[in-house]
Amino acid sequence: MPELPANDWKEQVRRAILRADFRRATFGGVVRGGSVPWNRVVVRPVQIQGKRQTQFSYFDQRKDITKNADSEDAASRLEEILGWGFSAIHVSTGSHSLDVRITKKGKAIVGRGKPDEGGDAALSHNREKGLPLPEGRADRLLQTMGIMTAEGKIRASMRGKFTQINEFLKQLSHVFDDAGLRSMGREMLLLDCGCGSSYLTLAAHHFLNDVLLLPAKILGIDVNDEVIRKSIERSRTLNSQGIDFACGPIGSFDAKPDVVVALHACDTATDDAIAHAIRSEAKLLLSVPCCHHHFNERISAEGPSAALKPILRHGILRERMADLATDAFRAAILRIMGYRAEIVEFVSQEHTGRNLMIRAVRTGRTGDRDAVAEYCAMREFWRETPYLETLLGDQLQGRINQSL
Ligand SMILES: C[S@@+](CC[C@H](N)C(=O)[O-])C[C@H]1O[C@@H](n2cnc3c(N)ncnc32)[C@H](O)[C@@H]1O
Repeated sequence: MPELPANDWKEQVRRAILRADFRRATFGGVVRGGSVPWNRVVVRPVQIQGKRQTQFSYFDQRKDITKNADSEDAASRLEEILGWGFSAIHVSTGSHSLDVRITKKGKAIVGRGKPDEGGDAALSHNREKGLPLPEGRADRLLQTMGIMTAEGKIRASMRGKFTQINEFLKQLSHVFDDAGLRSMGREMLLLDCGCGSSYLTLAAHHFLNDVLLLPAKILGIDVNDEVIRKSIERSRTLNSQGIDFACGPIGSFDAKPDVVVALHACDTATDDAIAHAIRSEAKLLLSVPCCHHHFNERISAEGPSAALKPILRHGILRERMADLATDAFRAAILRIMGYRAEIVEFVSQEHTGRNLMIRAVRTGRTGDRDAVAEYCAMREFWRETPYLETLLGDQLQGRINQSL
């Protein structure tokens, strides 16, 4: 990529942003020895009452602001931003993309490439029907992850991962508007609990920011420091901004996420993630539970549940029964705590047996009488306190007492 004199790159950025097919620009990083008033600035076109304007979103660690500007105001805001010391700039238009990196020595390296994937979602929010990240269309993220070849083909060994990523993104899109995530007017925070190798974390970040053009930050957490190390490495390779990883147990970070994701988080780690979503009043929870040992180990076929002895006698049936009861308890608790909770199929059985997803959108209407009655009856039947109830303690008990 060619090095340019200090100011030529600014003219290229200006021209790209002024184009009619301009889609999005991000400014991040900071030049050596410099300082910037915001960690990140995102610029994109928006339609307001039928008129095209330019939206400027400014982000730092604690706050963000969004301003919609007419052309004159937009030009002066842009000059201001170009004058700050950002070191990584990416501009996306319908005909090309522009990547600017300012080196430690202050030289600008400018790369001009094909248009970014993602179509013209910026103005219309319309997306191509079908898969969120389809096969056959080159996608930088899927290629860097080794899922897609340079020609846009999915590698046979990565087909399962490809399906899982797309199914997850479909679920996210399905409830996106319902959860009020598109209209927040600020950058959203998505917390991935038990992120593991972070395929889905990075895919979600890419989809939200580059395809839906919605500014989103992601925090992936996991107790395993080795997967966190690899995830940091991978996000650096992708040059992704707005992604953090941290090592530690779910619930030990005081993040206040808008979306909580927990995919195949082991046993009670799913409960930890649900409790975190409830406590932080997250707008959306997407959780695919994994093993359910906790409840299975405690079931005793006594009292009303003795009628289920013919089922509980057989290990595999007992395991499935414990899975179903645990997830039904979780959904009931979410309803009581102000969520519309549904249990849906995530990917088909042929990919994984652990294929149910708890999808919960916050309504804020807590203490639903029917949900409380159902929950108490189920607890009475099993004579066992679900782990999630123990985690939520008085917070749940208060809601139950209120509606009894
Ligand atoms: C089966 S992997 C799933 C990884 C990833 N979510 C996915 O779907 O590919 C479960 C991950 O959860 C992590 N984990 C389990 N319990 C946890 C806890 N209490 N807090 C944080 N991470 C946890 C494990 O270290 C592991 O990386």
